[in-house]
Amino acid sequence: AAPREDLPRFPIFSDLSRDAFVALTSAMALRRVNEGDVVLREGESGTSFYVVATGKLAVSKRDDRGEAVVLARLGEGDFFGEMALLSGAPRAATVISEEPCELLEFRPDALLGIAGKHPQLATSLRRFYRQRLLANAMATSPIFRPFPKADRKLIMERFRSREVADGEIVIHEGEPSDGLYVVLDGAVNVVKRRDAAEVLVSQLREGDLFGEMSCLRKAPASASVVVRRAGTLLRLPRKDFDDLVSTYPQILELVAELSEERAENLDAILSGHAQWTEEGLVLI
Ligand code: CMP
Repeated sequence: AAPREDLPRFPIFSDLSRDAFVALTSAMALRRVNEGDVVLREGESGTSFYVVATGKLAVSKRDDRGEAVVLARLGEGDFFGEMALLSGAPRAATVISEEPCELLEFRPDALLGIAGKHPQLATSLRRFYRQRLLANAMATSPIFRPFPKADRKLIMERFRSREVADGEIVIHEGEPSDGLYVVLDGAVNVVKRRDAAEVLVSQLREGDLFGEMSCLRKAPASASVVVRRAGTLLRLPRKDFDDLVSTYPQILELVAELSEERAENLDAILSGHAQWTEEGLVLI
């Protein structure tokens, strides 16, 4: 049958030709969920992509204190699941239905195949992925949590993105850093020189912040940051960071807390009382 007039009411697919849209529908299943069902859970693996046909859902994520923060509400025409699909990382957030919903679930291979042939689709998915990742990093980070949402939006606009390659040194120990960074995708190692050797101090991944210590203290970086897995970083240039601090002096206290915790971890590692492993920081 011919597609109904209102079929591409899904903005994400609005640039697709009819043929591409039809090809995509053959890789799609209708999934009905009840109120309160968990469609995706943060931390789980999975790469299905969903478009909301009817109903409303809430997106939430745990912050550094383990508290669930509601990040967004999604309704008809919105989509989710693109983050794990594009990053290969576990689900970045939990999506729970707030009323009975009809979802279109797409197989990742089919969606990526179509996106490969339709650059606008690929570009929109990437754009949303970036915006959501940055918004989430800010919503769950102790540094940005206290800011009203509207202010966070303004700050977000000041971040610049930067592609980085494996092994690239982003911050050099002993030199001033050029801003506050957020890992958008990829991963970095924080390493510190000790005698002739280098000690792994921390491993950071999507959503983590770094560079705040030297920005805040206006001191040389206390450790180097080296790219472990190529990807994209976002940088809030130092000048913008300084402006932010003068507009919101509260940020100083919050950054100081984070710095203190990191400085304590660093001491523990350097004094041989702790070691960084795949599981995180382990006391020895
Ligand atoms: P994924 O990480 O695959 O699974 C959870 C999904 O929640 C994620 O992809 C996004 O599609 C969605 N999501 C995460 N953060 C936000 C946000 N801030 N606003 C809207 N949707 C989000």
